Amino acid sequence: MASAAPAADLADVATTDLMSELLHRMKCASKPDKRVILVGPPGCGKGTQSPILKDEYCLCHLATGDMLRAAVTAKTPLGLKAKEAMDKGELVSDDLVVGIINEAVKKPSCQKGFILDGFPRTVVQAEKLDAMLANQGTKVDKVLNFEIADSILEERITGRWIHPASGRSYHNKFAPPKVPGLDDITGEPLIQRKDDNADVLKSRLEAFHKQTKPVVDHYKERGVVVGLHAEKSPQEVSAEIKNALS
Ligand code: AP5
Repeated sequence: MASAAPAADLADVATTDLMSELLHRMKCASKPDKRVILVGPPGCGKGTQSPILKDEYCLCHLATGDMLRAAVTAKTPLGLKAKEAMDKGELVSDDLVVGIINEAVKKPSCQKGFILDGFPRTVVQAEKLDAMLANQGTKVDKVLNFEIADSILEERITGRWIHPASGRSYHNKFAPPKVPGLDDITGEPLIQRKDDNADVLKSRLEAFHKQTKPVVDHYKERGVVVGLHAEKSPQEVSAEIKNALS
């Protein structure tokens, strides 16, 4: 249970912000708990759909890739260990990512459940997640499997631009910012991820097919996998997700 923010801190928060947080919490109170995993190759749309899902179902969004990149930028011991594998498009060790997720799911924002984006990526990670949830008397409710041909992904990955502070993602063809190179909300510069190039994409895809596809089979055996047509437009994919979770 999180400790309450000191009253002095709350006094500094704008009334409109407090009201919108209050309204958000009232809306969320009636939502059922959900524990959802998004699985799919690089560029399939996991990061694009997550914020929509997060708002609709009041879940926290835990993206191991984002967390690892933040650790790399901050040069923490975790980031130093993860950097080499990430730059090459390989997976970082199971122990590192399982440790991150174990901590992250305890956040108050995960009270209603979570969206796992990019985790589990190996069967070992899936088994550790299942054991962790079983300890809490819960389990994974749905695995959304973003099905898409590899040939579509290069254009998506090489055209992607990110606003590092917020994680907002753009695409020079499919989701262009209002002003080229700048974030729509803050006007700050957009960047391209170091691993978003055709060469590293090959290794990322190889890791996906070899190590992550078996995760889908692991959850198929448990009857919780729903396939999505991830080659469709973002709006169509959102509609399929809504159906899958209703
Ligand atoms: P991570 O950050 O998780 O990368 P990824 O899985 O490769 O996924 P991406 O973020 O590249 O793709 P996405 O599906 O989110 O696509 P997006 O929605 O942005 O992992 C990076 C690295 O971290 C790994 O290689 C590994 O080293 C390490 N790592 C992370 N988790 C790990 C774990 N659990 N274990 C071990 N190592 C781990 O879409 C892409 C682009 O396409 C965007 O520009 C978007 O605008 C556009 N787009 C999206 N949807 C559509 C659509 N429907 N139509 C047209 N364009 C679209």
